[in-house]
Amino acid sequence: MAVLEQVTSQQAIELENKHGAHNYHPLPVVLSRGEGVYVWDVEGKKYYDFLSAYSAVNQGHCHPKIVNAMVAQAKTLSLTSRAFYNNVLGTYEKYITEYFGFDKVLPMNTGAEAVETALKLCRKWAYEVKGIDENKAEIIVCENNFHGRTTTIISFSNDPVARKNFGPFTNGFIKIEYDNLIALKEALENNKNVSGFLVEPIQGEAGVYVPSEGYLMGAKALCEEYGVLFIADEVQTGIARTGRLLATCGNCLCEDKNCSGSPDVKPDILILGKALSGGAYPVSAVLANNSIMNVIRPGNHGSTFGGNPIAASVAIAALDVVREEDLAENAERLGRIFRKELSLFAKENKWVKKVRGKGLLNAILINDTEDSTTAWEICLKLRDNGLLAKPTHGNIIRFAPPLVMSEKELLDCIAIIKKSILDFEEF
Ligand SMILES: Cc1ncc(COP(=O)(O)O)c(C=O)c1O
Repeated sequence: MAVLEQVTSQQAIELENKHGAHNYHPLPVVLSRGEGVYVWDVEGKKYYDFLSAYSAVNQGHCHPKIVNAMVAQAKTLSLTSRAFYNNVLGTYEKYITEYFGFDKVLPMNTGAEAVETALKLCRKWAYEVKGIDENKAEIIVCENNFHGRTTTIISFSNDPVARKNFGPFTNGFIKIEYDNLIALKEALENNKNVSGFLVEPIQGEAGVYVPSEGYLMGAKALCEEYGVLFIADEVQTGIARTGRLLATCGNCLCEDKNCSGSPDVKPDILILGKALSGGAYPVSAVLANNSIMNVIRPGNHGSTFGGNPIAASVAIAALDVVREEDLAENAERLGRIFRKELSLFAKENKWVKKVRGKGLLNAILINDTEDSTTAWEICLKLRDNGLLAKPTHGNIIRFAPPLVMSEKELLDCIAIIKKSILDFEEF
């Protein structure tokens, strides 16, 4: 078979099953094209994408501005490694640091790499600035976190499937309950070696858990009180997804949707990925001010592809789109409509127990056990009715469409979601 020969959905699934590691359990649909809020399968059926590649495609599929930037740069210079300077990286670094209001950026590729980078940065700062004894630094993390899949990151996960038989694990992490400021205060009080607090502003993978009002502001204040770095993992929540440029701004009183962080909740270390490229290319970043980032010296950290010219050009275009198309504003407005409509529906429907979220990062909680297949079955109905979403855990369905969606399209999607749940009831 020629490499690019057309395959049917069935053939594509069989090829993946036979030749690929079984590290995912995809919904059975094989996509071959995307544009804006839509994707098409290989047989030509059109769907609304209601996952956006786990919030990477915030700017919509194949956004022309992002694609043009990528193609132009790919034709000119794709990779130099950091052995040499390239003519795009510095421009990107100036752009992204001004955009989010930090002194410096450390460019990486995937979200997990950026989290690893932030952890290393925090530890080095702990020894060289805070003065913690060597190898004693601890970082506080939250229960039910999701920060990626590397060995260090799964060391502080409490998902048994992600951890089982991958030990031995990395030390130096203290796990506390999410959305619990008393637990955070206790952990800070009881351990002089704490150097950082790593937190998702909304726990996406865990099922879109939105913390209580004031949690992030309180956590930041405690971190300041104890001289500990507040590290925000905004890989999933960042870049307009939750109705603000960053979800860490969602807990302040500022009205500016493009605000890059009130001093009350501004992270000391900000981790971004996914939508930093609009889903066109793996681009991630760690941002911090000089007092922290200057501990990094040549040879301490790096990546062959991190900061490559394509990534830099794509990220500038992707961030431009967020501002030019008011994506934070749109996410905020459509998110309110989505939650209102589905909450009304939930009142009369026995399967939908709860609707929660912020901006266009939302979830419905299905009235069944975590090990049930109900959410999966509903996702199959959604697919049949032309909308793609995926359960996160057995009884939660995450809804995260591209932020370029119009109100008319959203209302259409809400109708599909209601119909699919009703179809499921009759089934
Ligand atoms: C909050 C958070 N951090 C980190 C990651 C890891 O990103 P990646 O899959 O690009 O490594 C994810 C991915 O879903 C995420 O949601």
